[in-house]
Amino acid sequence: MEISINPGEIKNWDGSTLILGVFADDFEKQLGKLELPKGISLAARLKENNFHGKTGELFSCNFLESTPNKFILIGLGQPENLLLNDLRKAAAIGARASIGNSGKLGIILPWDLFTPESVIKATGEAVRLSLFEDNRFRSKPEPKVLPKSLEFFGITKSAEKYLREISPICAGVELARELVGAPPNKLTPSVLAEEAVSIASEYGLEVKILNRQECQERKMGAYLAVAQGSDLTPKFIHLTYRPKGEVKQRVALVGKGLTFDSGGYNLKVGAAQIEMMKFDMGGSAAVIGAARAIAELAPKDIEVHFIVAACENMVNGSAVHPGDIVHASNGKTIEINNTDAEGRLTLADALVYACELRPNAIVDLATLTGACVIALGDEIAGLWTTDDHLGEALINAANNSGEGIWRMPLKDSYKEGLKSMLADIKNTGPRAGGSITAGLFLKEFVDSKIPWAHIDIAGTVWTDKDRGIDPAGATGYGVRTLVNWICHFIKRS
Ligand code: BES
Ligand code: MN
Ligand code: ZN
Repeated sequence: MEISINPGEIKNWDGSTLILGVFADDFEKQLGKLELPKGISLAARLKENNFHGKTGELFSCNFLESTPNKFILIGLGQPENLLLNDLRKAAAIGARASIGNSGKLGIILPWDLFTPESVIKATGEAVRLSLFEDNRFRSKPEPKVLPKSLEFFGITKSAEKYLREISPICAGVELARELVGAPPNKLTPSVLAEEAVSIASEYGLEVKILNRQECQERKMGAYLAVAQGSDLTPKFIHLTYRPKGEVKQRVALVGKGLTFDSGGYNLKVGAAQIEMMKFDMGGSAAVIGAARAIAELAPKDIEVHFIVAACENMVNGSAVHPGDIVHASNGKTIEINNTDAEGRLTLADALVYACELRPNAIVDLATLTGACVIALGDEIAGLWTTDDHLGEALINAANNSGEGIWRMPLKDSYKEGLKSMLADIKNTGPRAGGSITAGLFLKEFVDSKIPWAHIDIAGTVWTDKDRGIDPAGATGYGVRTLVNWICHFIKRS
């Protein structure tokens, strides 16, 4: 979808559909200021149809003889309450209502309440992402007519430079949604690795894939223990973005990549929703989606590593027994008291690997704990970090991109819950505070001199209900935050 700024007037425009946001109460006045084609009296139509301009209210009407011929009005409530997220939602509702019209789509919202940069990115992303649909697994997808382009009206032409990020970021989110949405028989660790290789060759990233034997040589006993109960071979994926010119800092992004999590011998039963566990590679999808976007955006001065220890958690005769003790690549021994706490085992070795690259910061994303879903629901990810500056930058990046995040504590005394009678640590603590002990477990595998943050996306990776900007299904959560962080919010030295 082509996106641009149109400095002209609606009455001279050749588009087919116009999205208009209006505040409650005085929309007559607001619409009066617009120069619409002759004969169009929107205010009268709105009144006739009892439209009040309440937040999210939608009204659309057609004027057969006019250009544009379809007007989509969206209520914005009271101006003093308007948030950037309300503009995102309005843009998404408008975009959905434009389906069926193949021409140009225009949009006018009260831009001047925010910076041009933030409104352009927020609403451009919202329009494109709300129109996403995954039809890869239908034999006869219903054909859908979508607008061919999007034009912003009423924004200064000089804001054009802010358009460039929309398409790479949305393509990254869409890639992440497709990776997460793909079922576990189609998206295996090997397929995920092939995806990474093809992204690397298409966008010019370095790529390294370690097979089982190479991981054994690196003594990644925690990761390989998870993989050993599956017929599918593990793949350790490492992509690198190198900027042209001098490198001033280096960061590593690590994503949990369980293409399926059965729970292992601690099998997921009852309400555990085993059939959803294809989404257990959501962290890796966010990291690979971000890799695609970053490669295209080519930020200066910063080298970025993307790391995924991909495998499946299954049961067979060689699967891990509950109670096994394994050796991670930093030499620590782990008693696996619960085979369903597998993500942290794979991340342990991935984090050790990331530390060896001596980055200035490490961020991991993982669908790590059901406890995080209980704490924060499906619109807010949990953030744990050892570094306040890193935490603040990530929170700002997430807020700016409309992704929910909330900082949670790494309460040291809870480490008590991970004490093992025999090994250095066990992989599972008590039920209470389960997402905190998971974070504390990961911390054991990160060099304390390297600022590190962990984002638990177990709730946000997926949405059962359609949220407008996020259609039901995989959300692609994390791509926008990561790309925003690297391109805008990271502290540059
Ligand atoms: N992948 C799951 C976490 C999960 C659960 C994500 C529900 C999304 C929805 C993870 O591997 C897991 O099974 N965690 C266990 C940990 C427990 C055994 C300590 C959990 O949360 O139940
Ligand atoms: Mn599990
Ligand atoms: Zn898992």
